[in-house]
Amino acid sequence: MAWYDRVKRDLPWRTPAGDFYRVWVSETMLQQTRVEAVIPYFERFLACFPDVECLARAAEADVLTAWNGLGYYSRARNLHRAAKQIASTGVPDNFDRLLELAGIGPYTAAAMASIALGQPHAAVDGNVIRVISRLTNDPGEISAPATRARFAEEAQRLLDRHRPGDFNQAMMELGATVCVPGSPGCNECPVNRFCQAREKGTERELPVKLKKAKTRDIELDLALFTKRGTKSHVFLVQRGPEERRLAGFWELPAKNLFPTWTGQPVRQIVHQIVNDRFRITIWQGPAPRGLPSGKWFGPAELDLVPVTTVARKALRQENQGIPPV
Ligand code: ADE
Repeated sequence: MAWYDRVKRDLPWRTPAGDFYRVWVSETMLQQTRVEAVIPYFERFLACFPDVECLARAAEADVLTAWNGLGYYSRARNLHRAAKQIASTGVPDNFDRLLELAGIGPYTAAAMASIALGQPHAAVDGNVIRVISRLTNDPGEISAPATRARFAEEAQRLLDRHRPGDFNQAMMELGATVCVPGSPGCNECPVNRFCQAREKGTERELPVKLKKAKTRDIELDLALFTKRGTKSHVFLVQRGPEERRLAGFWELPAKNLFPTWTGQPVRQIVHQIVNDRFRITIWQGPAPRGLPSGKWFGPAELDLVPVTTVARKALRQENQGIPPV
């Protein structure tokens, strides 16, 4: 705790300390995204939706637009759904009530119970797993339920009951800045004298993870139509509400919808989603007759709707006015 008090980063959700809404939004953003990438989104989201009531009243499209670029959009949809739950039933006051909210699993419930409510629940994320696997020199495979249970038990045993939120954040901070994957900074580690992996020289082999699934390449051709008489308008189609991913987002149409249309290949984009690597070719040319249902967007209008990251990558290089993220 002394180490954390000395080195902790001044992150925007840490002040004012323990603010429920700020902790909740930040923990949700941090679920699959690094701290540095989250900071600007967090500031912008709070500026758009300063409190739970405001978020509960917002239209889902506006929430997705504020989230645009962070990815894993189910997090934003759940956050919005949970804001409505809170607006009708009140702010949860313990771990079990937190678990009832949309999108909140054991990790986030523990992080929020400890950081926002001061209750003694250890939060075990990937950073904490690495720290504990090394402290205890535990070779268990980290996706195995028995390994998870051992790590959770050890984290709960170590927890500082007087400062549970700071303790959890100290463990995360240690994993993110010192006890890093690959070559950890053991010489600067505040707990190196307790570390069994260091004693045995196994720190680089821990934690033990199953080998990653192989990436597969998928080729895709998208059409970027130019509109006669304008330079900066783009034609986008909207994904249906039943889509499993990115429902309601706007994107470039697939080129194969227009078999007789001829465009020029203007650029290639690579976009990876988990194990699928999409190799995308963007084709550009004058719009054909008989466009499917969709919409022409001017540059300013593109900031007001959720647009897929692939389309944003394609348009960013086109100077269509999409702000860098
Ligand atoms: N990762 C998840 N939660 C965090 C927090 N509160 N501070 C820093 N990194 C985090």
